[in-house]
Amino acid sequence: MRVFVTGGTGALGRHAVPELVRAGHSVSALARTPEKAALLASWGAEPVEVSLFDPDALATAFHGHDAVANLASAIPSPARFISARAWRAATRVRTEGSAAVTDAALAAGVEVLIQESVCMIYRDHGAAWIAEDAPVDRYPISAGNHAAEAAARRFTEAGGTGVVLRFGVFYGPGATHSEQMYAQARRHVGLLVGRPGDYMSSIHMVDAGTAVVAALGAPAGTYNVVDDRPLTKREYADALARAAEASMWLRVPGRAALLFGARLTSLTRSLRVANTRFRDTTGWAPRYPSAVEGWTATAKALRTPQAP
Ligand SMILES: NC(=O)c1ccc[n+]([C@@H]2O[C@H](COP(=O)([O-])OP(=O)(O)OC[C@H]3O[C@@H](n4cnc5c(N)ncnc54)[C@H](OP(=O)(O)O)[C@@H]3O)[C@@H](O)[C@H]2O)c1
Repeated sequence: MRVFVTGGTGALGRHAVPELVRAGHSVSALARTPEKAALLASWGAEPVEVSLFDPDALATAFHGHDAVANLASAIPSPARFISARAWRAATRVRTEGSAAVTDAALAAGVEVLIQESVCMIYRDHGAAWIAEDAPVDRYPISAGNHAAEAAARRFTEAGGTGVVLRFGVFYGPGATHSEQMYAQARRHVGLLVGRPGDYMSSIHMVDAGTAVVAALGAPAGTYNVVDDRPLTKREYADALARAAEASMWLRVPGRAALLFGARLTSLTRSLRVANTRFRDTTGWAPRYPSAVEGWTATAKALRTPQAP
C-alpha cells in the first residue's frame, strides 16, 4: 500500500515507519526540518514538508496514497506533565491537526485512516478487564484524544475506514520518558504513580510499531493496543528495577500522585486493558507479552552503544 505517516519521526513513528517499509509498503512522511527529512529518508521513506494544520496542502500531499497514519503527538515531558499550559500544543495537534488530516484524507480519496489514541481515557476499572466498549472518561488532558477519535469516526461515517488505536503506556527505546525512567532506576529511584495494587497497561515501542502495520488491514473501529498481561504498578516497578539491576531505595511519587487529581488522572487510574479484539481481528501479537520481558530487552538495548 502507499501510506502517508504524520508524526513519523516521533516515539511511535520511528518504530512504525521502518516497520511499514520492512513490510513492503511505500511510505511518505511529514518532515518538519531537514534533519528529520534525512532521518526519514535513511529509513526508506519519502519525506514531505507540509503543515499538519493546512488541510489543502495536506490533501495535495496525501493524493495517491491508500492510507494515512496520523501519529503526530506533542505530549509534554514528565517535568511539565502537570502544567496545563504545556498541554496546549498536544491538544492542538490532536484537535485541529486530526481534523485537518481527516478533511485532507477525505478530499484526497484515501481509503484508510489510522488515528493514534490512548487507553488512558477509560474509566478506572479496578482489577476488572477493559474491552473497547467500556465507558471512557472526559478530563481536561483527554480532550485532544476524544477529538482525534471523533475525527476518525467522521472519516468512517463519510465512507472510509477509520481505525482508532488506543495504545497503552509506551516504554522502550525511543520513548524519551521511559529512557529517563530507566536512567533514574539505575540511580535506585523507581517510578510508581498511584496505588501499588492498581493496574497499568503498557506496550513496548517495537510492538506499537508493528501494530500500526497490522492496523492497515483492520475493519473500521476502535482497538486497544496493549501487551497481553497488564501488571500492577508494584509489579511494573519491580520489573524495571530488575531490568536496571538496581534495588529501589525510593519509589516516587506513590499515592501522593493522587493529590494532583485530574492533572495526573491518566496515570493514576487502574487500567487492566485487554487486546483481544485487535489480536483476533488482525492476527497481530506483541513480541513482549508484558513489561517484565519488555523491560529486560529494553535495558539490554539501552546498554548497547548505538552505532555512529
Ligand atoms: N501511549 C503513550 O504512552 C504515549 C503516547 C504518546 C506519547 N508518549 C510519550 O510522550 C513523550 C513525547 O512523545 P510524543 O509522541 O508526544 O512526541 P514525539 O516523540 O516528539 O513525536 C511526536 C511526533 O509528532 C510530530 N509533531 C509534533 N507536533 C507537530 C506539529 N505541530 N506538526 C507536525 N508534526 C508534529 C513530531 O515531529 P518532530 O519530530 O518534527 O518533532 C513527531 O514526529 C514520549 O516520551 C512518548 O513516549 C506516550
